[in-house]
Amino acid sequence: MCGIVGAVARRNVVPILIEGLKRLEYRGYDSAGLAIVNGGMQRVRSIGRVAQLEAQAEAEQVSGELGIAHTRWATHGAPNIRNAHPHLSRDGIAVVHNGIIENYETLRRQLQQQCYVFESETDTEVIAHLVHSCYASHHDLARALREALAQLQGAYAIAVVCVHEPHRLLAARLGSPLLIGLGEGEYYLASDAAALIAQTQRMLYLEEGDVVDITLSGYTITDVQGRPVSRATHISHLSAGSAELGLYAHYMQKEIAEQPRAIANTVENVLGLGFVPQLFGDAAHAVFSELDSITILACGTSYHAAMVARYWMEQIARVPCTAEVASEYRYRDSVPNPRTLIVTISQSGETADTQAALKHAQAQGHRHSLAICNVPESALVRQSTLSFLTRAGMEIGVASTKAFTTQLVALFALTVTLARVRGVLAPEAEAEYMDALRRLPNKVQHVLNLEPQLMLWADRFAKKQHALFLGRGVHYPIALEGSLKLKEISYIHAEAYPAGELKHGPLALVDAEMPVVAVAPNDALLGKLKSNLQEVKARGGELYVLADNDSHFSSAEGFHVIRMPDHEGILSPVMHVVPLQLLAYHTACRRGTDVDKPRNLAKSVTVE
Ligand code: M6R
Repeated sequence: MCGIVGAVARRNVVPILIEGLKRLEYRGYDSAGLAIVNGGMQRVRSIGRVAQLEAQAEAEQVSGELGIAHTRWATHGAPNIRNAHPHLSRDGIAVVHNGIIENYETLRRQLQQQCYVFESETDTEVIAHLVHSCYASHHDLARALREALAQLQGAYAIAVVCVHEPHRLLAARLGSPLLIGLGEGEYYLASDAAALIAQTQRMLYLEEGDVVDITLSGYTITDVQGRPVSRATHISHLSAGSAELGLYAHYMQKEIAEQPRAIANTVENVLGLGFVPQLFGDAAHAVFSELDSITILACGTSYHAAMVARYWMEQIARVPCTAEVASEYRYRDSVPNPRTLIVTISQSGETADTQAALKHAQAQGHRHSLAICNVPESALVRQSTLSFLTRAGMEIGVASTKAFTTQLVALFALTVTLARVRGVLAPEAEAEYMDALRRLPNKVQHVLNLEPQLMLWADRFAKKQHALFLGRGVHYPIALEGSLKLKEISYIHAEAYPAGELKHGPLALVDAEMPVVAVAPNDALLGKLKSNLQEVKARGGELYVLADNDSHFSSAEGFHVIRMPDHEGILSPVMHVVPLQLLAYHTACRRGTDVDKPRNLAKSVTVE
């Protein structure tokens, strides 16, 4: 949600901080700010984009060898300057923070009684004053941070600097990611590896409860009990180029176009090794042999992938499967079954609700968990027994696209592997599924070629205020995903229904002003879907149909029809989501919204 960058060096760190913030901006873009220690403390904050902060820092000639910076997605308090990070306390202490401090109101009252004056409505300012109140008695910043942390409840990644310690950067994490970057004689701090790729590829991921004390001569990490610990150095595979826009107008456009390659990369090992449990980790065979049901937990787009997988799991692997929104599951008093495999899906691997749902499942006695994730070192992967990494590459647009289609192929591989282990997969079916996976990148490329037709639809959608999306069976989650994409980036109110539900209420919304998109491949439910669409037509609704060649929809009948490439059988959901992504993208472009950074949203939702 928010992003943190910090640096200590023997050169001016402002360019490092600004570069890092630019690379993190997709995570939160309500405001940005930095604080530099250079004899005194220089703080610059701005509403909106990092480019503005950069101009301001230049104009004010901010420079120094130690600093922290932040890009904010507002939780406590409006997105204004007063609430922008860093927050300051007495003695030149500055703090940036990701996460939420749950007991901040109590702490705020206590600190006000000690005569601390609050300038913002944020929970973060409490941390700054709390650190100072501890620091005031002994002037040891590391000790002060520890004492402050002991009083905080909630989730955080925190970075602290102080004018009295001009080459010392302190940080801590609990529930929000944070890592150290190792440079040549200089050190960095960031909430996301992407922030540091222009500086270094050598990084150490902090664990829950870690506190780090960085100076120019090195760093020490202590665990939750204050004991020194060592954390392994990782070489990040991200490259500076992976975050470049190239010839595209938006990251979302680039990421939609990258799907054939992202899918091919994700299934590479599956094509090489076959549908074997090792794809998911060493312990997978034992776990898969033992399980009797699956529960999939995820949020947003990842939840829609879970919904598709549920159809596949039951149809192909014959295993009972439920898909549940993580934010609901985490508080539901469900009945645990130790033989259920908990599968989590997440692009980022740091979505707070999904992580908490997994912890809840584990606390209930679920021993086995599998994470499907796009970020190798993420908390979710580390928290799970098994994992499968999608290889979508960095996804920067807030609207998830290539992460979704790669999640689908990962889930498909999981389904077929389970079917094999459970002995319910005929060899011919296995060969057919493998062929389908092999063909898929090309098929998706053919769908991308339909873009000009989607642009014509977008011309019409851009003038609308509402839209309905319909699908049946495994394509109902695809309708949901299409409606989420449209509302998220074009701000058009969109809803999705299983087409058979329409007559139970939503049909009342249909009139000549209501475009209705139908995902209508020629599958077993096509006949039923056609009847549902006639109900819409009879009420004057304007129908936009994604149909196969042999679905027998004709524009002459008053439908707007786009013909999809040949039906791809079981993998049809992967194909059908692509035109819906393109429709949302071009509609948003026509409406002039900020496609990659839609209002009120952030890329990774690391708070509850
Ligand atoms: O990183 P995750 O996959 O866990 O994120 C889950 C959702 O926040 C995410 O899919 C969100 O719904 C997207 N912005 C949708 O495009």
